[in-house]
Amino acid sequence: MSGPISHHQPDEESPNDAVEAPVTEDQKAQMEQAYAQMRRKLRMTRLAEDIGHKIMVLSGKGGVGKSTVATGLALSLARQGKKVGILDIDITGPNIPKMLGIGQIDLHVEDSQIHPAEGPHGVKVISMAFLLEDPDKPVIWRGPIKLGAIQQFIGDVAWGKLDALIIDFPPGTSDEPLTVAQSLPNIDGMVIVTTPQEVALLDSRKSINFSKTVKIPVLGVIENMSGYTLRGMTKPNSEISVMGPRGVPIETTSDENGNWSVSLEVFKKGGGEASALEMGVPFLGSLPFDPGVVRGGDDGVHRIVADPESDVALAFDRVVQNLMAELDNSKDSAPTIL
Ligand SMILES: Nc1ncnc2c1ncn2[C@@H]1O[C@H](COP(=O)(O)OP(=O)(O)O)[C@@H](O)[C@H]1O
Ligand SMILES: [Mg+2]
Repeated sequence: MSGPISHHQPDEESPNDAVEAPVTEDQKAQMEQAYAQMRRKLRMTRLAEDIGHKIMVLSGKGGVGKSTVATGLALSLARQGKKVGILDIDITGPNIPKMLGIGQIDLHVEDSQIHPAEGPHGVKVISMAFLLEDPDKPVIWRGPIKLGAIQQFIGDVAWGKLDALIIDFPPGTSDEPLTVAQSLPNIDGMVIVTTPQEVALLDSRKSINFSKTVKIPVLGVIENMSGYTLRGMTKPNSEISVMGPRGVPIETTSDENGNWSVSLEVFKKGGGEASALEMGVPFLGSLPFDPGVVRGGDDGVHRIVADPESDVALAFDRVVQNLMAELDNSKDSAPTIL
C-alpha cells in the first residue's frame, strides 16, 4: 500500500470521522447562539408565568415624574404585602436605584442569572445603572447593542415569584418600550404619566397611540404634580385669603382648631382626567405636587417610605387601588383559554 497512512491515536474518540464533516468554529458559534436564544426564550416564557402582572410605565416627555411614579406604585403595592419588582430600562438616565436609596452595587450572579437588588419593603430592583461604571456619565449605546442588552436583561434576571413587575422607561415611545413589548409575553398594559399642562397632555396622547400600535392596552392615565396643598394655622373659624396663581385670591375658613388648607393649581389641574376621557382610557387618579417628593428623590428616601401618611403617599394608595381594579377588569375581558 502506497500513500500516506493516517495515524489515528488509539485513544481519540472520533468513530464517525469518516462520515461527518468536522464542525467549523463558525458553525459551533452559530449553534451556541441559537441555543442561548432558545434558552432565553424559554426563560421569558417562565418569567411571564412567574410574574402576576407586568406593567409598563410611560410618559410622552421627560420630567413629568415617571420614575417617581413607577417607584411609588411599586412601593405602594409592596406596602400592601405584594411581592414587587421594578425594572429600570432608562439607559441614559437610570435613577430608580437612587430614588430607592440603593447605591452602586455589584449584582449577584448565579447559574448565569442576575439576582436583583433589594430596596425598601422588599422591592426587587434591576437597573441599567448597575451596569454602568459611572452612573453620572451618560452612555451612548448603539441601537442594536442597547436592544440586545434589554432583551438579555429581561430574560436573564432571577425575579422569583412576583405579584407585579413595574417597568420604567426613558421618556417617549422610543425603541425601548417597543423591544420590551415584543420580547416579554403577556404584558398586562401600560400606565401613562402626565402633568396637567397642555404640552405634556399632547405628548401623552402619543403614548396612547403607541399602545394601539403594539396592541398593549392602556390601563390608565395618572396626573402627577396636580395641585399643591398649602396648609396653615390661625384662630379657629376665621376667614383666610391666599393669593393663588394669576393673582386670583382663594378664600377659605379655618376649622375649630384653627387649621386651614387651600389647594393651589400649580400646573392647572384636571387635564389628565380630561385627556383620558377624550382618548377613551381610564383615569387612575392624580398625585399632588409635594416638595418632599423632590427631597426624597434626591436623598434616596421615597416620600412613601419617609411619610406613609402624607397626602401624596395616600394618593399613591388610591391610584394603586384603581390600577388593581383595572387589572381585574382587563383580566375579565380577556378571552379565557380552556
Ligand atoms: N408629585 C411630585 N411633587 C413634587 N416633585 C415631583 C413630583 N413627582 C416628581 N417630582 C420631581 O420631579 C423631578 C422629575 O421626576 P422624575 O420621576 O425623575 O421624572 P421622569 O422620570 O418623568 O423624567 C424629580 O426631581 C422629582 O423628584
Ligand atoms: Mg425617569
